[in-house]
Amino acid sequence: MNVVILAAGKGTRMKSDLPKVLHAVAGKPMVEHVLQAALQLGATRVVAVLGHGAERVQDALKAYAQDGKLSFAMQTEQLGTGHAVLQALPALNPAEPTLVMYGDVPLTSVDTLKRLLAAAAKDALPVLTVELADAGQYGRIVRSADGQIERIVEFTEARNDAALMQLREINTGIMVLPPERAGHWLRALKPANAKGEFYLTDLVEMARRDGFKTPAVLAPNEAEVEGVHSKVELARVERVYQLRQAHALLTQGVELADPARFDLRGELTCEADVRIDINCIFEGRVHLGAGVQVGPGCVLKDVRVDAGAVIKAYTFADGEGETIEIGPSAQVGPFARLRSATKLGAKSRVGNFVEVKKSSFAEGAKANHLAYVGDAQVGARVNIGAGCITANYDGVNKFKTTIEDDAFIGSNSVLVAPVTIAQGSFVAAGSAINKNTEAEALTIARAKQQTLKGWKRPKKA
Ligand code: UD1
Repeated sequence: MNVVILAAGKGTRMKSDLPKVLHAVAGKPMVEHVLQAALQLGATRVVAVLGHGAERVQDALKAYAQDGKLSFAMQTEQLGTGHAVLQALPALNPAEPTLVMYGDVPLTSVDTLKRLLAAAAKDALPVLTVELADAGQYGRIVRSADGQIERIVEFTEARNDAALMQLREINTGIMVLPPERAGHWLRALKPANAKGEFYLTDLVEMARRDGFKTPAVLAPNEAEVEGVHSKVELARVERVYQLRQAHALLTQGVELADPARFDLRGELTCEADVRIDINCIFEGRVHLGAGVQVGPGCVLKDVRVDAGAVIKAYTFADGEGETIEIGPSAQVGPFARLRSATKLGAKSRVGNFVEVKKSSFAEGAKANHLAYVGDAQVGARVNIGAGCITANYDGVNKFKTTIEDDAFIGSNSVLVAPVTIAQGSFVAAGSAINKNTEAEALTIARAKQQTLKGWKRPKKA
């Protein structure tokens, strides 16, 4: 099967420099949702018809084009939907049917498209329709006595005809063109209408004239076929999509405090008894193990959380492309910040206002308050006191800190990397450590406290 995705329109009402089809739903450009649905259906050739912002759209989809799954056709002037499909024609296999989709209609389910495709045949032109309470400016579906579509009348042509304006079934624009004959019809289109456009919808009458069937396949609801033309519609589509994802997780047994306050912009997999509080955002790939709890307001991107771990309120964990691993029964937050490639061992703890970057914590290691741990290897049962930092950067290069098992770093210490804090070392509070410490010994590296007896405070003259 061929798929043509129409994506040349400007999207004036979006009031944005970004081409319309690149506006994101759940963090992914709308056109990519459409493309992925096409690929899930097993499309052999997908052609995206581009016009406004073509270069940026091509760039956003280049991974698919490199795979050879997608090619592009240019429509420099937007002369109508029929003209748009015509531009894709040379890239299509004429021996196969062609599913026409819109790059700004992101929520059509694969099941609905499969029902439409089931109605496709060598001698049929099935159209996806939907019944609306208010048919607005959509093209009206006129059915013939045999239940087939007799013709589609565009709003501009229907507006002065009361009977047509009463029709509630509309054209979603999604249809399957039969092989062979469709090219001939497309080339024969004339812009003989009020808008002076080449209407794809005129193919219905041509098909009937040639004895083809024109069945209507009803979409299950409006949201599946809703096009996005404004930020208002984009926000509505986003909520529909998020609720869909939330319900899928609830059905799997994930506990969501409120499905209306849940955002997934990537992939989330969960084992049993996961609980997610309100206003969390999941991006990239996130996995939550059995019994994991995520507090309110957390942002997790590219994170793997093992069983029993607790992520407390307002934790921000972004793997920055390198997955963060949070070990079993670890505790993170509230207000923790985890960055790339951080690995927290079993029962470790990272508390409030602690930033951890490219570091590993072995089992039971803790940094509970106000600390920066970067490029560090932290051993088992280590305690990093409040206000400690690893000084990993000299303004040019980054260096590593190693803290061996059972070390204790007193509050407000600076570990100047490269440095090793030996096993069982005790670093006194307020130390600035720039040499390796000895195992099982106390190291103090701060000015000695002095007391000047009888010292007089300065007085105003
Ligand atoms: C079209 C249908 C109408 C249907 C409606 C559903 C026609 C003639 N009319 O309306 O029956 O109810 O969709 O939304 O087909 N596009 C191009 N190039 C063009 C024109 C359009 O790529 O020259 C793309 C747009 O970017 C958009 C899609 O096609 O993604 C639909 O275009 P739009 O202008 O929104 O719809 P209409 O043509 O008014």
